[in-house]
Amino acid sequence: MLDQTIKVELSTTKKQKPNADQLQFGKIFTDHMFIMDYTEGKGWHDPRIVPYQPITLDPSSVVFHYGQTVFEGLKAYVTKEGKVQLFRPEKNMERLNQSNDRMVIPKIDEQFALKALKQLVSIDKDWIPTAEGTSLYIRPFIIATQPFLGVAPSSQYKFMIIMSPVGAYYKEGLNPVKILVENEYVRTVKGGTGTAKTGGNYAASLKAQEISSQKGYSQVLWLDGIEHKYVEEVGSMNIFFKIDGKVVTPELSGSILPGITRDSIIQLLKYWNIPVEERKISIEEIYEAYDKGLLEEAFGTGTAAVISPVGELLWKDRKIVLNNGETGPLSKKLYDTLTGIQYGTVEDPFGWIVTV
Ligand code: COI
Repeated sequence: MLDQTIKVELSTTKKQKPNADQLQFGKIFTDHMFIMDYTEGKGWHDPRIVPYQPITLDPSSVVFHYGQTVFEGLKAYVTKEGKVQLFRPEKNMERLNQSNDRMVIPKIDEQFALKALKQLVSIDKDWIPTAEGTSLYIRPFIIATQPFLGVAPSSQYKFMIIMSPVGAYYKEGLNPVKILVENEYVRTVKGGTGTAKTGGNYAASLKAQEISSQKGYSQVLWLDGIEHKYVEEVGSMNIFFKIDGKVVTPELSGSILPGITRDSIIQLLKYWNIPVEERKISIEEIYEAYDKGLLEEAFGTGTAAVISPVGELLWKDRKIVLNNGETGPLSKKLYDTLTGIQYGTVEDPFGWIVTV
């Protein structure tokens, strides 16, 4: 592991913490943040925890022009007994490095990054909200900071971790969301950056997202970029369908984000002996299953979204309402079990929880 001391400068002022009922997603940040710099020839250096504050960057920094950046998202939870828990944080560090590889950003030392993350969470642990459905969202990210307008990998970077107390991601809370199946725009294609967690994928999604919200939908469901036929993922989550007793989710085809919640749900379903398949799923298949009365439920999975039931799909002006627009029993059971493990009220048979 990187043998460097993390310098700590504690904030002299403490910001006011929000009330549980004011919590929105990602609008308020804790008292501290982590920063570490990278310089070519020197590697990652100067890890430090400092008061949360704006940073100064040269306007020619690579990130502003060519989007060389990656990020992660995970959460810290506090149990009834006051223990602080993280959910599979090593997987986020592993995926950060996979994204780094795709975006030609130097790898971080995963164990060191996890140590820094735990220290930061521990310093700001009073910021972890305790009300049901709330948590502390943790956003590690890396930006390319070399002042240079040529299209080439940057020689300088900043790795930072910021944290935000959050409630539900969608305005619907835990109620089913309405999703528009996107038929014109695409998120990415195989060979693109879809498997990396990089800002450009999200910037590319905004146009379709804007149109869907004008039509009253929360998110778009992306179809594959070549045939516009196969279901890929939703803007901020992976997608699952329960058809005739079987759960299906799009396979990791090379353009879909490999969600950690997605993987956890597949493991949970297998543990319960519920048949689950990762494969290509066409949007026609979903509508046909609906027409035959076999489409039982659909739900999205993600760190921010947790388990988010889908109540309605709109594809080419054809609207279908799933499970009467209500949360289905499997979505509910998965939500209760996953959050139970995360908040320490349900036993964790998988060894997913890491205590801070
Ligand atoms: C997460 O679930 O952590 C994400 O990164 C999705 C996000 C874009 C809010």
